Amino acid sequence: MKEEFEKNGYYVLRGVLTEAEVDQLAMPIRAAFTRGDYDTFHRGPAYPAAGIHSMGPRVLEDHPEIADVSLAHPKIMEAIEELFGEPATLAQYWSIMRPPGAGLADKPFVNGSGAHYDYKPWRCVGSYVKWMFAVIPFIDYTETAGPLTVSPGSHLKSPLMPSDGRVHPVEAAQVPKASEIELIDPSLKKGDVVLMNGFLWHEPRPNYGNSDRCGLYMKFHAKSSPPACGPTIYPTAVHEHLSDEAKHLVPYHRGDGRFASIEEEPVDCIEEGQVLIEDRDEKVLVLGNEVDGWRLPRFDAKEDATAMILDACNVMGSIFKGAEEELGLKLPWLSWLVDLAGPAAAEDAGEWRCRVYGHRTKTSAPTLKLSDGEYAWMSTEQLKEAVTDNKLTDGADILKWLHMWQNEEDEDGQPVTRSFGVPSTHVAYFKYNGNGNPEGTYLVGEFDENGLPMPAEA
Ligand SMILES: [Fe+2]
Repeated sequence: MKEEFEKNGYYVLRGVLTEAEVDQLAMPIRAAFTRGDYDTFHRGPAYPAAGIHSMGPRVLEDHPEIADVSLAHPKIMEAIEELFGEPATLAQYWSIMRPPGAGLADKPFVNGSGAHYDYKPWRCVGSYVKWMFAVIPFIDYTETAGPLTVSPGSHLKSPLMPSDGRVHPVEAAQVPKASEIELIDPSLKKGDVVLMNGFLWHEPRPNYGNSDRCGLYMKFHAKSSPPACGPTIYPTAVHEHLSDEAKHLVPYHRGDGRFASIEEEPVDCIEEGQVLIEDRDEKVLVLGNEVDGWRLPRFDAKEDATAMILDACNVMGSIFKGAEEELGLKLPWLSWLVDLAGPAAAEDAGEWRCRVYGHRTKTSAPTLKLSDGEYAWMSTEQLKEAVTDNKLTDGADILKWLHMWQNEEDEDGQPVTRSFGVPSTHVAYFKYNGNGNPEGTYLVGEFDENGLPMPAEA
């Protein structure tokens, strides 16, 4: 399995689920589409109209038991962790419903025109570098229903670059025009599960048939390769349902109904963001003053208003806005360090979550639009002194985050591969992973003088 997966970028676990297991999984998902309880519902026209209807983790709140026949199915979990060589974390839990006619337009579909890959620094479910899909079709993906085609070996065209001691760029392949892409149909049948490297080019074909094409599209990342935009938040019900051996798959969750979902608007499940901003001389930005003490920059967090379900939980847009408005600092990118969670300050207000990110500036101690005494760029020694003098809020945590950041480690002291994250609205600057590009690569992690991702080659 491992050899084939590494060479081709995908591996099909044939008949790994029984028909009954697939039905057990599909039933509550199909029922939720029928009820209109899915994330694209408000965009209309609703299921069963032709179109691509989709649903995030919400189904797991009322039906956590379907975790047993999907994300935590022993055979799926074991295969994924064997291929990673380490524990996995669930990132995406996404059901797609494509009724008859889905994917068809006025003009005939050109095979290859929908080829793409899903390394996406603008999404929680895409901004990591060691990850894979696990797709469970609920029906046979026949020629008529629409195969999920793959381009064998294409994952090898997007190498990870060495880090600068903090964050790794990716030399992301540019997907060329349709006629230059070789795609094969792995002939997925009900009961099969296909595992695909996250950098593999693939294409869903239109549904030419007369029944619904529906399936579950999960993404997992290796624990050592966290999402740069931060983790997707799941309903606590699923974490609680999982066995002790499987709980680590869903470590980030909320029990107050605020998880990754879109109602008429995106549901906020992260209230605050803090940023550990290091300059090129390894000094860290703190706000406050000599008398009252210092703290990290902290901003109100909010989902992007235009976020769709796969954009959920990426609140970088609000952090960028806060940094620019309050500090006069234009942040080009961030990379997630840790989430803080607990009960909300106000009684009965549910839970509270704060996302902590790292960033390193290209210059030394940039000037902010604050008065001189209201901020400081502190060396590690100065931060330690401030902690000793009780003049740094959350001082011990900040020293820990700084250590994690500078040593490329996670909270447990294990090595991590961090990558670049940007707001979901930055999707507008990226073209590399979709169809019709000139040959070559695009370096994810390079920004222009305005702090925006380098423009794509014309
Ligand atoms: Fe995709």
